[in-house]
Amino acid sequence: MSAIVEVENLTKRFSEDVLAVDDISFSVEEGEIFGFLGPNGAGKSTTINMLTTLLKPTGGKALVAGLDIDKQQDEVRHVIGLVPQDLTVDDELSGRENMYLQADLYNVPRGEAKTRIEDLLKLVNLEDAADRRVKTYSGGMRKRLELAEGLIHRPQVLFLDEPTLGLDIQTRTAIWEYIRDLKKNNVITVFLTTHYLEEADGLCDRVAIIDHGKIVALDTPENLKHSVGGDVISLEVTSEKDLTEDLKRVPGVMDARKEDGQYRIKAANGEELTPVVLKAVWDQGAVVTSVNLAHPTLDQAFLEYTGRSMRDAEQTGNYDKVAASRRARRMH
Ligand SMILES: Nc1ncnc2c1ncn2[C@@H]1O[C@H](COP(=O)(O)OP(=O)(O)OP(=O)(O)O)[C@@H](O)[C@H]1O
Ligand SMILES: [Mg+2]
Repeated sequence: MSAIVEVENLTKRFSEDVLAVDDISFSVEEGEIFGFLGPNGAGKSTTINMLTTLLKPTGGKALVAGLDIDKQQDEVRHVIGLVPQDLTVDDELSGRENMYLQADLYNVPRGEAKTRIEDLLKLVNLEDAADRRVKTYSGGMRKRLELAEGLIHRPQVLFLDEPTLGLDIQTRTAIWEYIRDLKKNNVITVFLTTHYLEEADGLCDRVAIIDHGKIVALDTPENLKHSVGGDVISLEVTSEKDLTEDLKRVPGVMDARKEDGQYRIKAANGEELTPVVLKAVWDQGAVVTSVNLAHPTLDQAFLEYTGRSMRDAEQTGNYDKVAASRRARRMH
């Protein structure tokens, strides 16, 4: 495998106080689904906008498919596809007409365009709705159309900025399936941003956790989760005796604590250890009234690396959505 996106010390400063992307370096391997996970205002869209040449960096450099995002903007645009965070399809046109428009924009020859458009409409399951005006589409259908549009010129790298933002969970899962299928059947690299933990966890091969413009961790979801500790077995037990020390002595137990009348036991492999722990409790003549096994989550990883959970980060984010969308409209 070789790197298809190479980023070195990339920086974007909007003003004296707004350093949106702060000296980030990373690379994306060919064929990967690579995710940027972070709360509102973390710098995800700013990074995508720089990598797709919509925004000029204030420092550092990046290569996409070996092309310099600063010096070879036109070439970069031909090898990438972009599905931006805000919707871009034309409401008054049908899905199919929108696709033809996009094909023209990328100079896809008409004869070739027809085959590609029919294939793509099939891929995103919009064949039946293709001749309806987009204004009659649901949010999920629009997103699928945009996904198809982003693919019309057969890009090597597809950039998706929040591909499932605001969609219900069924539609979100369907979009993940389309993205996975795409990767299965084509040589394509996908770079996406998200603030959904499940999306980063379930869809991405590797995830960079981004906060305040910095990458604070980068690894596979599995490694990120395990880097912050193992599984947690919670037990409710009726026993006169405090069993904390007995539990700590069980081989494989990393830590045991009693909190709110429950024992919380940390272990690298909860599935294997749960029966052993239960036996240790029974051996003390105690009765177990409830057992729960929890695997580490990406939110715990987020908490570990940033000092706050994703939910708290979203609430205290310095990002004003309304101001941002006004700003986006002004820019158009
Ligand atoms: N055009 C702009 N001018 C000034 N500041 C900007 C501009 N675009 C973004 N910012 C600021 O840069 C920071 C990063 O914004 P960005 O849109 O990259 O975040 P994000 O991670 O994509 O957030 P979200 O999850 O809300 O989409 C924020 O503080 C934002 O207010
Ligand atoms: Mg964004």
